[in-house]
Amino acid sequence: MRLAQILAAAAIATLATACSKPQDSASSSGETPAAAPAAPELSDADKQAILASYPAPYNTADLANGKSKFALCQSCHTIAPGGANMTGPNLHGVFGRKSASNATFKYSDALKNAGWTWDASHLDQWLEKPMTYLPGTKMSFAGLKEAKDRTDLIGYLMVETGHKAQ
Ligand code: HEC
Repeated sequence: MRLAQILAAAAIATLATACSKPQDSASSSGETPAAAPAAPELSDADKQAILASYPAPYNTADLANGKSKFALCQSCHTIAPGGANMTGPNLHGVFGRKSASNATFKYSDALKNAGWTWDASHLDQWLEKPMTYLPGTKMSFAGLKEAKDRTDLIGYLMVETGHKAQ
């Protein structure tokens, strides 16, 4: 009985030593565990592949033109995840989201009452002439007249706001 207890204690001690070894060597060498890698930047090829997964006509949108049109929005909107609200709300994740549902932004009553879900078709009409499409909106943007520019911008926004094709 006694011998068994001693043997058991010895076994536990051996295990404890074995277990503590890797930790000891890690701490004595001053290494800290590797930090989780930051979300990788998407390459242009990645973005083109994401774009190609969307329904027409967005799958062939011109991302460079879309980006240059987004310059018209940038004074009021950020699109990166967790980006700040400015004059307008951060737009990350806007596709598939109910209108006026960014809880940290104070919308007009008009947009609060609009009650649609943002998809390419709503965006297209909104961007053509927001103040005509939704009288009372406080997005004071004249509009983007050319249909092709809106398509390119919407394709760009889909990619940059993290929209996943259904
Ligand atoms: C002068 C500032 C300004 C500019 C420029 C502007 N916006 Fe806005 N945007 C706003 C404001 C303010 C709102 C909130 C409107 C409201 O509450 O009626 C808004 C709302 C929106 C919404 C609805 C968001 C939601 O959460 O429902 C979208 C989408 C949008 N803008 C896209 C764009 C795009 C794309 C452009 C560029 C073509 C653009 N905006 C240009 C100020 C701006």
